[in-house]
Amino acid sequence: MHAGFGVQGASSSPRSYAEAMPSKEPKAYDGKRITVTYDTGRCLHAAECVRGLPEVFDSGKRPWVQPDGAEPERVAEVIRRCPSGALQYRLACEGPTEEPDRPTTVVRSSAGQLVLRGDLRVTTPEGAVRRETRAMLCACGVSGNQPFCDHSGACGND
Ligand code: SF4
Ligand code: FES
Repeated sequence: MHAGFGVQGASSSPRSYAEAMPSKEPKAYDGKRITVTYDTGRCLHAAECVRGLPEVFDSGKRPWVQPDGAEPERVAEVIRRCPSGALQYRLACEGPTEEPDRPTTVVRSSAGQLVLRGDLRVTTPEGAVRRETRAMLCACGVSGNQPFCDHSGACGND
């Protein structure tokens, strides 16, 4: 596990729930004032979500995301801590969309992944260009979810 992200353990990570329900498309959780989306394949157990707002992100509940469990601005603030970009959000009304960090930053984690935040255009192996604000990219080439890290490589042992 990645020491820098303080992973709590597989049983408490949202991915342990998500792995039981594999999905290619991000899953949407609609609340009254915010929709939260979760991309299973990009979740790297950082646990910022369950630590930051356990009343909204609780792997012991079904569904594990309860978007109305806190004020939408607070939900959005915690989602922006998700380093992998697995969690994203849309506010229901005139609220602001996520502003990319400026300047864009790139950091290599101790496990080797490239951790990016900013106004990103990420190209998939199929040639699609995705606009992202947060991403952790595979640096070893082993990931089955390229270009994102999925912990298949040596990084999974860190
Ligand atoms: S913060 Fe993001 S990467 Fe971390 S456990 Fe939550 S969804 Fe997964
Ligand atoms: S760096 Fe994590 S799978 Fe490649």
